[in-house]
Amino acid sequence: MSGFDILVKGGTLPDGTVADIGIKGEAIVAIAPRLEGTAGTTVDAAGNLVASPFVDPHFHMDATLSYGLPRINASGTLLEGIALWGELKPLLTHEAVKQRALRYCDWAVSMGLLAIRTHVDVCDDRLLAVEALLEVQKEVAPYLDLQLVAFPQDGFYRSATARQNTLRALDLGVDVVGGIPHFERTMADGTRSVTELCEIAEKRGLMVDMHCDETDDPLSRHIEQLAYETQRLGLSGRVAGSHLSSMHSMDNYYVSKLLPLIAEAGVSAIPNPLINIVIQGRHDTYPKRRGMTRVPEMIAAGIRVGFGQDCVLDPWYPLGTADMLDVAFMGLHVGQMTSPADMAHCFDMVTGVNAAIMGLDHLGLEVGKRASLVVLDAGSSVEAIRLRPDRLCVISRGKIVAEKQKRVTTLTLDGRPDSVERRL
Ligand code: FE2
Repeated sequence: MSGFDILVKGGTLPDGTVADIGIKGEAIVAIAPRLEGTAGTTVDAAGNLVASPFVDPHFHMDATLSYGLPRINASGTLLEGIALWGELKPLLTHEAVKQRALRYCDWAVSMGLLAIRTHVDVCDDRLLAVEALLEVQKEVAPYLDLQLVAFPQDGFYRSATARQNTLRALDLGVDVVGGIPHFERTMADGTRSVTELCEIAEKRGLMVDMHCDETDDPLSRHIEQLAYETQRLGLSGRVAGSHLSSMHSMDNYYVSKLLPLIAEAGVSAIPNPLINIVIQGRHDTYPKRRGMTRVPEMIAAGIRVGFGQDCVLDPWYPLGTADMLDVAFMGLHVGQMTSPADMAHCFDMVTGVNAAIMGLDHLGLEVGKRASLVVLDAGSSVEAIRLRPDRLCVISRGKIVAEKQKRVTTLTLDGRPDSVERRL
């Protein structure tokens, strides 16, 4: 085939094969060891990793880049973060939320992060953040898939208007049903909320993604109900449990029963390693629990497990750069996933697995899929996690949306090895 709009030459794919990728319009039209033909633009990717774009299945875009507003989280706990967000919420304006979100989307694109699922708090009766992020979703659609989750941050039942606001947000076009069962007043209310929220999703034909058991309490078992309702309502493949932190502290015998139930139900898991490691275990002395759920064990049980970012510069987390390789790096460490196969899988988790969790079938390095990819200054997926290197070229829907010159000096300002020193 000839006449490509873009030809990405000689890149190394995550599986180690070297290939050219031909793009026409918004689609990948050819992948082969060597493609002949003319191209409007040729991207020399020789020696570089070419991968499907990064995908973040768990984020809070209504809160991002608000760090320090109106004050800093002194204890570092989840509960102070929620209280602090409650102080900030009445001060939010439509324009400020929108501008911060758009700025974050620019960061994301520069990092090759081209799909994000963001929770949006519906407990402000104005639904100001919902309306702002629906506008952002439309504006970034030409280059970034943004999925919105109706998230009753203050409790679906615990907050007086959260139930009606969740329904209002879904009526406005929010894509996914959220929840926070461990934050309801009682375990029983948490259980009821899982049931009703799944029924709402089933009636409306929507996906479900709940903050589920984001606590160190080993008796927080709402994931069990989430798996049950998923099976009962036929929602398999459309439901995700985010965090699942309590599983870290659960009784081992109970977990041996729980994991097959989650797998049978087809519920995905989205731990958020950067945030789980920082927020959980704050009430412990020593030993301090790590708080990340049982990632390798869930994968071994056949559960689809991705990694999310959750927060960047907001009431819960003072750092972050929109780099999903930071997320994979932390997840790999906390999960002790250091075998070559596990490390390579951690890269897949922040690309293809996350895309599958979000139902983004159009992403992937295959002929016929959308022409969205990222060229990294690394020789393999494991090296990418080790270096968290520059994104040399980012292509979205057949258009180059970010580029960076390859570094060739032997000294770098940020102290990371550069491309000359890279190969071992
Ligand atoms: Fe979250």
